Amino acid sequence: MSPIIFLKKYSAGRKTFLVALFSAIFLSPSVSIKLLSQGTKIDLTLSDSKIDIIISGMSLEEKIAMLHGNGMFSSAGISRLGIPEMKYTDGPFGIREELEKNSWNSLRLTTDSATFFPTGSALAATWSPDLAYLLGNALGEEAKIRGKDVLLGPAVNITRVPTGGRTFEYLSEDPFLNARLTVGYIKGVQDRGVGACVKHFALNNQETNRGRVNVIVDERTMREIYLPPFEAAVKEANVFAVMAAYNKIAGSWCSEDGDLLNRILKKEWGFNGLVVSDWGGTHSTVKAAIGGLDVEMGTSGSAFFGQALIDSVKAGHVPIEVINEKVRRILRVRFAVEPVSETKTGAVVSTPEHGKIAYQVASHSIVLLKNASHILPVDLNKVRSIAVIGENATRKFASGGFGAGVKTRYEVTPLEGLQRKIGNKISIKFAQGYKSSFIQNHQSGGRRLPNNAVDSVLLKEAVQLAKNSDITIIFAGTNREFESESSDRPDLKLPYGQDNLISAVTAVNPKTIVVLVAAAPLDLNNAENSSPALLISWFNGSEGGNALADVILGNVNPSGKLPFTFPASLSDSPAFSLGTFPGDNNAYYKEESLVGYRWFDTKNIKPLFPFGFGLSYTGFSYSGIKTDKLKYRSNETIQVTLELKNTGKMNGDEVVQLYVHRLNSQVEWPEKELKGFTRVSLNPGESKKVTISLPVSQLRYWDAKIHDWRLESGKIQVMIGSSSSDIRLVKNIEI
Ligand code: GLC
Repeated sequence: MSPIIFLKKYSAGRKTFLVALFSAIFLSPSVSIKLLSQGTKIDLTLSDSKIDIIISGMSLEEKIAMLHGNGMFSSAGISRLGIPEMKYTDGPFGIREELEKNSWNSLRLTTDSATFFPTGSALAATWSPDLAYLLGNALGEEAKIRGKDVLLGPAVNITRVPTGGRTFEYLSEDPFLNARLTVGYIKGVQDRGVGACVKHFALNNQETNRGRVNVIVDERTMREIYLPPFEAAVKEANVFAVMAAYNKIAGSWCSEDGDLLNRILKKEWGFNGLVVSDWGGTHSTVKAAIGGLDVEMGTSGSAFFGQALIDSVKAGHVPIEVINEKVRRILRVRFAVEPVSETKTGAVVSTPEHGKIAYQVASHSIVLLKNASHILPVDLNKVRSIAVIGENATRKFASGGFGAGVKTRYEVTPLEGLQRKIGNKISIKFAQGYKSSFIQNHQSGGRRLPNNAVDSVLLKEAVQLAKNSDITIIFAGTNREFESESSDRPDLKLPYGQDNLISAVTAVNPKTIVVLVAAAPLDLNNAENSSPALLISWFNGSEGGNALADVILGNVNPSGKLPFTFPASLSDSPAFSLGTFPGDNNAYYKEESLVGYRWFDTKNIKPLFPFGFGLSYTGFSYSGIKTDKLKYRSNETIQVTLELKNTGKMNGDEVVQLYVHRLNSQVEWPEKELKGFTRVSLNPGESKKVTISLPVSQLRYWDAKIHDWRLESGKIQVMIGSSSSDIRLVKNIEI
């Protein structure tokens, strides 16, 4: 059958791509083909023998053409065989709009609006792998409808510095929490027949000098803190693609580091998908080819993996088997992801069902940080007027700044959310309070700094409104211009003079709630001192305003828990207190494994709000911790049970957290480490037996002397808490 007939047959969309492809190539009846029904979850260990037959029939030029971009977000297939190109798309919380083939310019279509899902730190604040799955699954469906093969997400780097520009996009400061959410998200995406691409591998923990910073980190820390989310992505979620990071590790570019890509990722972890560079993150031809990079993306005209690679193969610098292995990996993904025929991509992308999922994630992510005198939830029978103050009450967060913004079908702002729920029952008046703007700063390569000058006219108007309202809600925080890829924030301060606004408003109206619409740690000392109630509502997607209004009005009981520590002062946090951030060309991870709460707990430094912290409108009591045994062997699993009771008057969720503290260890450990968690829903007065399983293998440490995991026998204390600093029950056991 000629490729033309094949293309007609394949593009009919009825035949699965694979059946049509193989019949196009092997006419011999002897080659039997398992019919792959639509939607079969195909893994990457697809019959390599068939793929190798294809490879044996390909020219060198055809092979090399697959190894680099043939457009900004696509790489070539094999047109002679009717194998379509691979289409990649950003981003981790919304499918980016269609761009011109070879540029970053939008095509300005009207058919590609997508759902804006809560961003990384919001998802992390839900502490729910199930919600991560739902979000990934909906994203995967939108990617599929848009004809995309690989979604460039999740972005799972550990938030090592609280000022990190991409904290909004990443997840948390803990490898266990990141790994659990990463697995859920990737399974969700790939169950839709779209490949996920976990990024950025590895140690891409800052934006300052991200394109050249060289990370110096000890082996144990790298294995126990920074690699686990990627290891889980490969070993548990069977991720189809991995994106090599921009930075260097120990002097070697991630995109050509054989140790990272070949030895650890492909050999030790058994990854059999493809490694793609970050966009423009390829730095050589031979070194990158030998080092394990499979696809060069984002470099216009394929600077390294185009003609230069053909020449290198012909000159004998790169063995043809190395090229064949790259093509094999790409074809595995290509066959595992059935391409969408052109007809399908006109369908509606963002659906009401996806809006519901965005709402579910958002409403489980909001964190109640303070609720003195129970000013929250607002009782509409007791107030006649509400002052809504702050630009973030009306601002949208789907796009902006650098990186993967979302042209979203809709986004409900906090003010709209309140107006919808309250209607004209009581008066809601708005005052902008502050204005976000930037001053051009040339110190560090044109990084923009916020203009923190107070706008006295806006301030006066806001104070006036607050004085004449029963209660005030200030919407402060940051935005997508300020928290952004390609630059870290200068500090944790609330920008644009918001602290002055908060002080001035709370001085005239003590019944003032402060809502932070932000996606990373902030300096909330002043807000905490001034206001009786504090909420964090993240960059929370198309439904963010509805979810927030439901929490403020008590329709939803807040259940989010902080995915990272809020330091009382930036200098308390490890990288700043050790003076290693941002580093010049080298970033020394001197704090080793003491990242986030590991540092604060081990050094006994009190944070403003600890990792895992989040209040509720109800209360929970913990009792009766038990373990199924007192002594455990290396291949066993510790079953921890306890009784959790809702002691209040409102149903609610509690995220029960399990930490481990080493008692008589010869090895150095952080004070405690998260090793389990579960979200429990309870009605008022209801109690439930909660079980958390902890495989003993999770307690091993990386012994750099033997370059392998080792289990240390001895006593450990299992700690059950409502946050890393609120331990309610402990139980000692022995390994
Ligand atoms: C960017 C980001 C990466 C993104 C890629 C394509 O620089 O680092 O996360 O997927 O380029 O936009």
